Amino acid sequence: MNERITGGNRIEEGEEIFQATLRPRTLDEFIGQEQIKKTLSICIEAARARGDALDHVLVAGPPGLGKTTLAHIIAAQMGVGLRTTSGPVLERKDDLAALLTADLAKGDVLFIDEIHRLNRVVEECLYPAMEDFFIDIVLGEGPHAKTIQIDVHPFTLVGATTRSGLLTGPLRDRFGIQLRLGFYNEKEIAQILRRSARILEVECEEEGIQELARRSRGTPRVANRLLKRVRDYAQVRRDGVITAEVAREALDLLEVDNMGLDHTDHLILRTLIEKFGGGPVGIKTICAALGEDERTLEEVYEPYLIQIGFLNRTPAGRVATAHAYAHLGISLRGHVSPQSDLLSEL
Ligand SMILES: Nc1ncnc2c1ncn2[C@@H]1O[C@H](COP(=O)(O)OP(=O)(O)OP(=O)(O)O)[C@@H](O)[C@H]1O
Ligand SMILES: [Mg+2]
Repeated sequence: MNERITGGNRIEEGEEIFQATLRPRTLDEFIGQEQIKKTLSICIEAARARGDALDHVLVAGPPGLGKTTLAHIIAAQMGVGLRTTSGPVLERKDDLAALLTADLAKGDVLFIDEIHRLNRVVEECLYPAMEDFFIDIVLGEGPHAKTIQIDVHPFTLVGATTRSGLLTGPLRDRFGIQLRLGFYNEKEIAQILRRSARILEVECEEEGIQELARRSRGTPRVANRLLKRVRDYAQVRRDGVITAEVAREALDLLEVDNMGLDHTDHLILRTLIEKFGGGPVGIKTICAALGEDERTLEEVYEPYLIQIGFLNRTPAGRVATAHAYAHLGISLRGHVSPQSDLLSEL
């Protein structure tokens, strides 16, 4: 299920290189997320004027919405270097100490992806580094062990997470700037597609762009991926121009429906509706039925289904909404009993 074309997550090595060529380099090039851009540009300008490192920044949001892109833009606009690592990679306190003392120059950005997956020991080592720019290092072992404090250059930690809810309070509180990326609207996705088409030198008619935008799940990474696939189709089967018709044909072939849902989304919704009467049903039960792990379902698949109002997370479990029934062409009758109250509100 991870390989699907409409997943916001990264699917293969080569793709990152392709997506990176399309990555905006400045805040001006970064499309949408106006509030976030405003906040960032003010903070960056102020920090630069003072000659300080920028406050630590936490960027949260579903996969493929621009977290890594923003980390690169922050470093570029601050005119500083960027070091990249991730929660699961930073296994030991020493790894972090080495990064902070040897690799970071004054004012640099340390980007920690998937920061919610940092282990406790490393996380606690980060606290004094973030707050007062020093780390504790233990020298020696046993009764002769000594703790010394080592200063590190002032730096900016940019943490990215798809699950801000899993961050501990103390870590979250140490980020002076907290940003939450939301899905993009169709107009913004269309703008992103036009920009990408220009860079890739693909000829697109406006209706072709609109068709792609509608099916990109409000996610720039998906938009760029679909553009690439439709470009290939246009080249091989047509004269290379992406018209509405070409886009529709190619996307139908890729089994991306008119809401951007694919067979996995259909499977999730159908399982919920046909096996569990539409819910509410616990996430563990759904995952067991789908053979999918909870984290992937929650981080990758559910956010968009919730965003478009097809799925609700309730305290009692997941519920398929009337919109989901309608989209799949399933009548509500016969499935109404367990969640009739919820559905009648929709
Ligand atoms: N606001 C934007 N404007 C234009 N293109 C964008 C924007 N945001 C993201 N992109 C494009 O989408 C791609 C994916 O973005 P990015 O890698 O930053 O996502 P991410 O949030 O870090 O995802 P993940 O959670 O998987 O790490 C980028 O390569 C970039 O080309
Ligand atoms: Mg990323």
